[in-house]
Order: sequence, then structure tokens, then C-alpha cells
Amino acid sequence: CGIVGYIGHREAYPILIKGLKRLEYRGYDSAGIVLFDGKDLKLSKTKGKVSDLEARAEQENTKEGTVGMGHTRWATHGVPNDVNSHPHYSNSGDIVIIHNGIIENYEPIKKELIKRGYVFKSDTDTEVLVNLIEDVKNKEKVGLGKAVQIALNQVVGAYAIAVFDKNKPNEIVVARLGSPLAIGIGEDEFFIASDATPFIEYTSNAIYLEDEEMAIVRLHKPMKVRKIKDDSLVDPYIQELQMNLEQIEKGGYDHFMLKEIYEQPNVIKDTYRGRLLANKGIIQMAGVEDNLEKFLNADRIIIIACGTSWHAGLVAEYVIEEFARIPVEVEYASEFRYRNPIINKNDVVIAISQSGETADTLAAIKLAKENGAFVFGVCNVVGSSISRETHAGAYTHAGPEIGVASTKAFTTQITVLTMLALRLAKANGKMANSDYQRYLFELELIPQKVTEALKSNDVAKEIAAIYKDAPNCLYLGRGYNFPVALEGALKLKEISYIHAEGYPAAEMKHGPIALIDESMPVVVIAPNKGHYDKVVSNIQEIKSRSGKIIAVVTKGDTQVRELADHVIEIPETSEALTPLLTTIPLQLLSYHIAVMRECNVDQPRNLAKSVTVE
Ligand code: G6P
Repeated sequence: CGIVGYIGHREAYPILIKGLKRLEYRGYDSAGIVLFDGKDLKLSKTKGKVSDLEARAEQENTKEGTVGMGHTRWATHGVPNDVNSHPHYSNSGDIVIIHNGIIENYEPIKKELIKRGYVFKSDTDTEVLVNLIEDVKNKEKVGLGKAVQIALNQVVGAYAIAVFDKNKPNEIVVARLGSPLAIGIGEDEFFIASDATPFIEYTSNAIYLEDEEMAIVRLHKPMKVRKIKDDSLVDPYIQELQMNLEQIEKGGYDHFMLKEIYEQPNVIKDTYRGRLLANKGIIQMAGVEDNLEKFLNADRIIIIACGTSWHAGLVAEYVIEEFARIPVEVEYASEFRYRNPIINKNDVVIAISQSGETADTLAAIKLAKENGAFVFGVCNVVGSSISRETHAGAYTHAGPEIGVASTKAFTTQITVLTMLALRLAKANGKMANSDYQRYLFELELIPQKVTEALKSNDVAKEIAAIYKDAPNCLYLGRGYNFPVALEGALKLKEISYIHAEGYPAAEMKHGPIALIDESMPVVVIAPNKGHYDKVVSNIQEIKSRSGKIIAVVTKGDTQVRELADHVIEIPETSEALTPLLTTIPLQLLSYHIAVMRECNVDQPRNLAKSVTVE
């Protein structure tokens, strides 16, 4: 979910609506706003997107006021409908709340409140929290801030909340545990949001609350940040934001996803800028240099991640084991955290996360730390929870990724992890120096080769037109490109809702081959390096069962071209770097199929970009 709030001298409505649109990547099942017009609270909420909310607010004239809050939801408790949407009022109607997260022990609290006469309109855990706050406030005869604090000490779960009491219209109380919350500080005005994007055109000063912290933002008064548990005052760190407006706008592209696909040459360069000095034979990343011994003494590396980041982890397994000969395991964070894994002090854990907020990954990191492992983060969002929770790390520097389906985050993650593998290989001497040097130069050429690979756009579009109505699709690859097959299939199912599966090409004969007939498109990743002949045999197996073959090949390929129904070319590169290029046409293919099927490319149904619930 995404939350936004404003208190100051401007009209809050346009700030809230624009802010919610920027936060929609966090969830878009339903949306709502509340405004205080100086006398009364006015609330509009609806199932659907922020644009639906806008229409509703126009109709209901919920537009006046210089203080207000808004919410865009990814449903956890209660189906996405109008009633379950946020904000939620307390029973008296005086207090109103927005909440991102989950209150785990809401049922006993709800029962208790019902006994005390409270009535509930929705099925949400959030309505329980706002009534608990009201109950505490009345019972203990305390102000809103104190009541929020006492209530939060009774709940178990995760939250970023903003609470407003119409009897105290100069303040908003905010708190965080597990879900992010940024406060933008202007001239006698404050902005509250799940990330800084809703307020970057108004201020570049922001405070990111830490877990278990709360703040009362008050007009005409300095802001105070406290620990929720013991009430101690915290000296907040005011961060200067580096983001600019251009980065979070579409810039002439039809969709964020397409813009982000096309940004890849530049962001990959940003990722290695200052870190890769091919001429000097140097790779340096501060977080790695400072902890080199830990990596070199590691018995093994365990990579934890979810979704696309997990796929980047699989590529890293191949690259790190090949280059640095350190054993690597890759796990879904959600499995790792609940399966009583064996973690030793000599393990290095690498957590990969674009958002840096994924709840399962965060919990897995905590578990690894408790067991004494050194945890290294690979995050995109600067200052995110995971980047702070890890002992050290390297940012991917991809810039804001707004399309829900991850693209540039994936290729920049692979870039960072490949640099890490090379750095370790150089340090432990497991790679011949000539190979090391060759890879450095080759990596430096990748942005320009990605630009070349992007020229496959027209071919990808033509192929998309042919297969857009296919009910299923199979993606095959071997070695470094097996994870790319998984990622290609994930992209297609996420945004076009076509069922797709990625498989190691050789495994096809152990099951999926049964699915192949003349109506089954099979995307085969077949660059000229690494197991090329084996992949060619797999293609033959598909062909003899009349499957339709879409092959991603190296420029100039002739053998696969003869067998395949369609080919998409990428430039030649070293074997371990091929995922950075083979991924590109697969992103474009799924993009065009989704557009042709009239799907919402940037906000596919049921998904959210930042999953802060487990
Ligand atoms: C969600 C997103 C995916 C992403 C995954 C992991 O499912 O829709 O695109 O790969 O979360 O997110 P993270 O931010 O940890 O990389």
C-alpha cells in the first residue's frame, strides 16, 4: 500500500492525488482520501485506481482543505471494495487513519472493543487500530500522539500509519514499523509519504523514520521524533533528496515499463560508473572493499531474494561460482526464513531487492544476522529498509523503477553481482588474469550492446502480433540463460496474463515436452556461446513436435535461423554476460504482447511493486 499526507498552507487535494498516482506502484486495488476543511472531515474512497478516486472526489466535492491524507491499497484483510478502502474513521468520526501494513493480533483487540461498544463497518485490521487509538485516548485522557503510542505498544504487526484528529487540526501523527515512511519538510508545511516521490517538487529535505519510531508533525512547531517503545527522543537525520522530477515521469514513452527498458544502457553505465576501471584493471565497490576478507573467508554465499531479484540471484550463482569458485546457494526469502535453515558465522548472505522493502527478504536478513552471518545488500532504493538492515552493500543506481514489472532493476542487479564476482575472483586468484581483464573490457561495452539489442524492438513487435492470443508459452535456456528463461516467462505472465513457464532447456524432455504441439510458442535463448549445440538439439526436439520456435540468437547465426520460426538477434558478448543482452528482447516481447492485449502494462492486476507484507 502507499500512503500520503499533507499539512501546511497549500490546497492539499492536488498534492494528495498526484502523490497517490506516484505511489500507485505500491498497490491499486482501491484508494481514498480525507480532507479537513477547517470545520469538518470529508472523506471519499472507492474500489479501483486513483483515477476512480479522483472522479469520486469530484462528485462528492471532497477537495477543500490544507490538511489531508490519502491511501492506495493492496488488499490484505478484506476484499478490495469501497468499505474496506482507507482512510478509516474511528467510531466518533473524529479520528481518521491511513495504514500500510498488517496488524496481526487485530482479532482479540477487535473482540475486546466490540465488548466495549465499538461498531465496525469494515473487515480491516486498520479500523481496529483507529478505534483502539480512540479508546485509549478517551480512557487514559491523553493527547493523540500519546494515544497512538500506547495503542502501538499493544499491537503486533507491521505498519506505516498517519493519524489525524479533527479536534487537533494542526498536527498529524505518524509511525513506522516494517513499512517505510518519509516526511518531507518544507517551510511550515510537511509532507508524509511511503517514499519521497509525492513531494520532490516541493522540498528536497526529508526524514526517513526508522522502525519503531513515531513523529508528531505540527504546524509552527519543530517536529519531534520519538521511540514508540520507551518514548525517548530521537535526533532525526535530515536527508537531502537526490531524485528529480524527470526520473519519475514517462518522458514521452507510452508506459513506464518501456521507458525503463530503454533506460537500460544508461543505468547500467551508472551502475558501474566509478566502480569499473577497465583500463586500469580495477573493480572497486566500497561495500565490498571494506569487507573483502569476509567474502574471501566465506565457506559459501547464500543469496536470498524474491521475484525478479531472485532470478538475478540465480544468474549470480552461475557467475560467482564460475569466476570466484565460491559455493553459492540461492533461496526464496520466504522459504529460507521459515525452514530452519543452517546458517553459519562463515556464511556470507547476499540479499537482493529493488525496493529494499520486501517483507520476506527483510525477515530473512534478520534471521541471517541473528545467526551471525555477514549480510550484504544489493538494493536499488537508496535509504530503504534493507539497505539499512544489512551490514554493507552496493546500490544498483538504476533510478526509480515505476513499472511494476521489473526491467532495469534486473539488469543492474546482474551488473553489480557480476562486478562482485570479478572482484572476488581477482582477490582470490581463481580466474586467469587475462580472462579477468577481458571481462572488464567486455562489461564496459555492455551499455552500447544493450542499445544494439534494443533495435530488436520492431521484430519483437511483429512476433508479438502473431502470438498475442496464445494461451501458453514456454521459455527455455541453459546455463547463464536458464534464469533468463525464468525471468522472460515471469515478465509475460505478469503483464499479459498468458500462462508461461521457464525451464532449463534440457529439462523440457522430462515433462513440458508433453505440452508441445503446433499451437505452442517456445522461446529459446540460444546465443552462440555455451552449450550452443545442446540448445540446437533441444530446438530440433521442439521442431519435430511442431512447436513454434522463437529464438534469441547472436547476430550472424545461421544454424538456429534455419530451424526457428522467428529469430531475434543480439550482439555477441562473453558467455557470462549474455543475460544482460538476451533479457532485452524478452522484455520487449512481453511488453508488446501486453499492449496488444490491452492490459495495464505498468499496473498489472493483483500485483504490487513493493510487497511489504509476507
Ligand atoms: C514484487 C514485484 C517484483 C519484484 C518482487 C521482489 O513481486 O512485483 O517485480 O521482483 O516483488 O521485490 P524487490 O523489491 O525485493 O526486488
